[in-house]
Amino acid sequence: MAPASLQPSAPGKVILFGEHAVVYGRPAIAVPVTQVRATATVKPAPPGSGLTLVAPDVGKNIPLATAPQEEPLAVAARLTLDYLSAPEPDATLTVSSTIPIASGLGSGAAVSTALVRALATSLGHTLEPAEVSALVFEVEKIHHGTPSGIDNNVVAYEQPIYFVRGHPAERLTVGEPFTLLIGDTGTRSPTRKVVALVRRACNRNPAHYDALFDQMGDLADEARQAIETGNVDALGPLMDENHALLIELRVSSPKLNDLVETARLAGALGAKLSGAGRGGNMIALVENDFAEEVAEALRNAGAVRVICTRVTTTE
Ligand code: MEV
Repeated sequence: MAPASLQPSAPGKVILFGEHAVVYGRPAIAVPVTQVRATATVKPAPPGSGLTLVAPDVGKNIPLATAPQEEPLAVAARLTLDYLSAPEPDATLTVSSTIPIASGLGSGAAVSTALVRALATSLGHTLEPAEVSALVFEVEKIHHGTPSGIDNNVVAYEQPIYFVRGHPAERLTVGEPFTLLIGDTGTRSPTRKVVALVRRACNRNPAHYDALFDQMGDLADEARQAIETGNVDALGPLMDENHALLIELRVSSPKLNDLVETARLAGALGAKLSGAGRGGNMIALVENDFAEEVAEALRNAGAVRVICTRVTTTE
């Protein structure tokens, strides 16, 4: 068996700037969160048994041959086999993940990415991040309905990215590494549902929502500049502004606002919700010296888990 570090795997992610607006063509920035991961392994099975997909975390054990059409694990497996023009192998593919589900950390994209990589590797193929991302995007359509494509890109490349829907992801060079805390409200919030709510509201008042999305896009552009030039001090206020716009978009929640406010009062340089909203996670930009203090304040305010991650450029 391959050592754990060589197991096909994929990280979680957070959106730093531009969630929702990115669905409507505005730029956004996302970074990988390597502290939580999805992993996948493939083991041979007796001849004639076909491919069985197992996900112990969510109690799934599904033979590919009888899997429902829209079952995401089966869709990921079928797409990969089609792409590689490979017949269904006799094997058991097991996926597991430490990424909380429906919390804005990209668990669906990471599970699909690990699965695609593991299946391809077991068939003797190494796929490029762009190939993995394109396959996972198709699976994301089942999870999210109308995904922008940012999750599959940041997870497959495992790099900070600047992303505009329909364009190749651009890797961001991080001028000066910075530290983020990720605080979980503990409330699950399926992305598909929140994206659909925004879509309905947007259809009723397109001018208002277009203006909000434009402002979010401008913030993402300003943030890109700040990240690349290492101007970390500029990022906090931009995050605060983005959160205010997300409140106007009606995707925040009292718990998210509470954690954002708590982080700021405890010394964070800026804070915002991250991902679809209405639950899930918030992020706070912190100086290293204050990270533990802010994390403690978030836990005391009811965050069910706080992850500390360092954003940097990796090779
Ligand atoms: C989900 O991580 C971010 C959203 O913008 C949806 C998407 O981009 O597909 C809310």
